[in-house]
Amino acid sequence: MTVTIVGAQLGDEGKGGVVDLYGDTADVVARYQGGDNAGHTVVHDGEKYKLSLVPSGAVRGKVGVLGNGCVVNPRTLFDEIETLQEKGLDPDVRVAERAHVILPFHRVLDGIEEDVKSEDDQEVGTTGRGIGPTYEDKAGRRGVRIGDLLDPDVLRDRLEYVVPQKRALIEDVYGTDVSDLDNPDAFDVDALFEEYREIGERLAEQNMTVNASAFLTDAMADGETVMFEGAQGTIIDIDHGNYPYVTSSNPTAGGAAVGTGLSPNVIAEGEIIGIVKGYLTRVGSGPLPTELGGVEGDTPGYDEQGDGENEELATYIREEGGEYGTVTGRPRRVGWLDMPMLRHSARVNGFTGLAINHIDVLAGLDEVKIGHSYELDGEELLAMPPTTEEWGRCEATFKTFEGWDNVDWAAVAEEGYDAIPENARTYLEYISDELDAPIYAVGVGPGREETVVVETPTGAE
Ligand code: IMP
Repeated sequence: MTVTIVGAQLGDEGKGGVVDLYGDTADVVARYQGGDNAGHTVVHDGEKYKLSLVPSGAVRGKVGVLGNGCVVNPRTLFDEIETLQEKGLDPDVRVAERAHVILPFHRVLDGIEEDVKSEDDQEVGTTGRGIGPTYEDKAGRRGVRIGDLLDPDVLRDRLEYVVPQKRALIEDVYGTDVSDLDNPDAFDVDALFEEYREIGERLAEQNMTVNASAFLTDAMADGETVMFEGAQGTIIDIDHGNYPYVTSSNPTAGGAAVGTGLSPNVIAEGEIIGIVKGYLTRVGSGPLPTELGGVEGDTPGYDEQGDGENEELATYIREEGGEYGTVTGRPRRVGWLDMPMLRHSARVNGFTGLAINHIDVLAGLDEVKIGHSYELDGEELLAMPPTTEEWGRCEATFKTFEGWDNVDWAAVAEEGYDAIPENARTYLEYISDELDAPIYAVGVGPGREETVVVETPTGAE
């Protein structure tokens, strides 16, 4: 049996904490997409771990797998492993030989492409980790895979094909002289070959590379339980999200099959838990119909509209919730919960349960709102439309809920669901009813013990 954890919104829903909570009984925690653009914070024994690539289960001694759908920056991989080792942990991380490698030039290109787009106000606000350029090369059949690092001849061939193209792109299209870059070696075949051949040796010596499909199938045949840890969220999925303000992979549940090499039947036999933050945040650009206050450089039209009338409220929630990017430190845009977004998300993923986080952050407000539906060209919409242009024109129609007080959340977590303030329960049950999915957990604080566990997914008992 498997449990798949999926972000229902725009990322940063608190997936790491839920993986940590339900992953206790899992033997293997696998990521199926994305790379070091993710930011997972796990609190364990009072110690905070910030991970961007290594699956968060590694903090608790699980085998961590980076599936074939991931893009892997080996420098980040080894940095994170070493940091965990310095803290006395012994992470066991395996990497799919089919996963693609983020090379230094991918990061350079990510930055340059964003700069060029920003001249026309078209930037996505990427994390700058080279994610998009690496997936571009994967789709363009010119990528370097983890398995290629293990064979020096193959690695050299791949680099000799791709690097001159990237050099031409940066020089002839973007007009940047490679020798002017901080890291000109990013475009040098010999330098890349030396570094990545050594990385290949290290991966082989430490027995870290696997055929993810076979490895996970064997683990399950041996009776081990597998948890899939989605990164980012449904609305930044390249297919089902708010294109082009998306990441370049599929965080949605279907990605768990494609990105690991397990059958969709395996994923569907298990549980799919949607992680919902009790309000909404967004890093980077794109529409946000329930936005409360803008962030300069990210909120479309910020220059004309300024902060927005609810900026104070947005700032309050941002500060209470610590809504600053884990990877980039950027302030996140903040809005009320958006139900048309969540209905779309529930349809795409087929949630069997929900974990709703950060209910404590909203405590103390007189009233709390949820965007129940949108109005677009005089019509009511219950789910977000497929084009970004239409979504940008949607006006949210709000439903208002009475607020709830700040209480001793640790005590609430211990006592259980009925100890949650009544108004907060009304809010939670509205979400669950609208999405036709039961509440499995409610996050009332950052630590995993500050979670009200209502249900444990089958396969994670
Ligand atoms: P990229 O994944 O770095 O290419 O960024 C593409 C878009 O996805 C940008 O809007 C990022 O802010 C967003 N994004 C990427 N990773 C995360 C994440 O872990 N949480 C929230 N947003 C993310």
